[in-house]
Amino acid sequence: MKLLIINGPNLQLLGSREQSIYGDVTLAEIEADISTIADDLKVTIDFRQSNHEGEIVDWIGAAKAEFDGIIINPAAYTHTSVAILDALAAVDLPAIEVHLSNIHAREEFRQQSITAPACLGQICGLGPGGYEWALRALHRHLRASE
Ligand code: DQA
Repeated sequence: MKLLIINGPNLQLLGSREQSIYGDVTLAEIEADISTIADDLKVTIDFRQSNHEGEIVDWIGAAKAEFDGIIINPAAYTHTSVAILDALAAVDLPAIEVHLSNIHAREEFRQQSITAPACLGQICGLGPGGYEWALRALHRHLRASE
């Protein structure tokens, strides 16, 4: 089983970025934790980050050939990107959306996810642990549909 994990804009700044909202764990630390858990589950992961909407769209569009599922934190594109929504719908792979913060408890413009309707589900507000829950949930989902 092979999963693509995509992180959107500004997530490369985790650890120093708005620590009261996003905490002090870096993206590299999240990747290291997720890799250990993925090894236990015998899942191969490809963990990426981009600040560019088109690059994320390209990654999703090409994912079907290589991956069984997608975990995505589209970051700010969550609230704006019809292109990412369409890419997720087009590629037809199970996807789980992750947010470190509880977007439903934040500014009104963050409370809508444009991208979540193309996902199996959304995990938000649980900090870096959300990536682990998404990995376990997607693993279980894919195992059940084997
Ligand atoms: C975020 C929430 C988004 O609203 C924000 O633009 C981000 C991070 C999160 O993980 O909590 O960049 O996706």
